[in-house]
Amino acid sequence: AELGRWPWQGSLRRWGAHSCGASLLSHRWVLTAAHCFRDDRNPKEWTIQFGELTSVPSLWNLEAYLNRYQVDRIILSPSFAGVPPYDIALLRLASPVTYNKNIQPVCISASMSKLEKLTDCWVTGWGDVEEEKNLPAPYTLQEVQVSIISKAMCNHLYQRSDFGVAIWGDMICAGDPAGGKDACNGDSGGPLVCDLDGLWYQIGIVSWGVGCGHPNRPGVYTNVSQHAHWIQKTMAHDGSPRLELSLLLLLLTLPWTPRCVGPT
Ligand SMILES: *[C@@H]1O[C@H](CO)[C@@H](O)[C@H](O)[C@H]1NC(C)=O
Repeated sequence: AELGRWPWQGSLRRWGAHSCGASLLSHRWVLTAAHCFRDDRNPKEWTIQFGELTSVPSLWNLEAYLNRYQVDRIILSPSFAGVPPYDIALLRLASPVTYNKNIQPVCISASMSKLEKLTDCWVTGWGDVEEEKNLPAPYTLQEVQVSIISKAMCNHLYQRSDFGVAIWGDMICAGDPAGGKDACNGDSGGPLVCDLDGLWYQIGIVSWGVGCGHPNRPGVYTNVSQHAHWIQKTMAHDGSPRLELSLLLLLLTLPWTPRCVGPT
């Protein structure tokens, strides 16, 4: 990827090392996958880095360290039971993110039903570039264009493989039925975005897959639209009672993320 093309992309880090992808929703809130916190839900052990093309900045890259933010709260979907569905989590940051040309929030919408309009979709991350093959130095953010595959089609594809996997609930599939275009280990929690009328919307969160990039086994993502109200509610209940009114206003004005960015 080029620096600044995916300005909401974050590197979620445990003890300073890249662990998952994530996306910026507002100055204080970050979206990621719940399964990233399977082993560790202590916010003090997590940071998130924005605005960098590399997941391993050099020690003298001061800016990269200034663009790291402490996590203050980790909020998993109350319905998440350790495995998908409901593989979604919100992080509240300890201090507000400073936006710049390379750090901007992504849009979210509760009504993302026009599948046929979702033709320009991309998934990004610092995960493995092939099964069992880590991203090599200089650890540059990777991007790949994928197609959204309907639930019916995805179930059909998966049934053609040697074992049954059911795609249901809040899961959506994306990739290429022929294989070769997919997220992989280390991309979890990162965004699947589509360009809709000049604005980038986050459609999915990297959740799971059967291997990486196999034919007939598209990547599976958490459908963000299905959680839009939970996201709004959680972000609005920010400890300040005055925010009740803005919750109401937010719900009345969809698409609602106030300052998500269009393509440059
Ligand atoms: C995601 O969920 C929304 C809201 O329930 C739904 O309209 C949309 O069709 C789903 N997206 C996909 C790709 O299944």
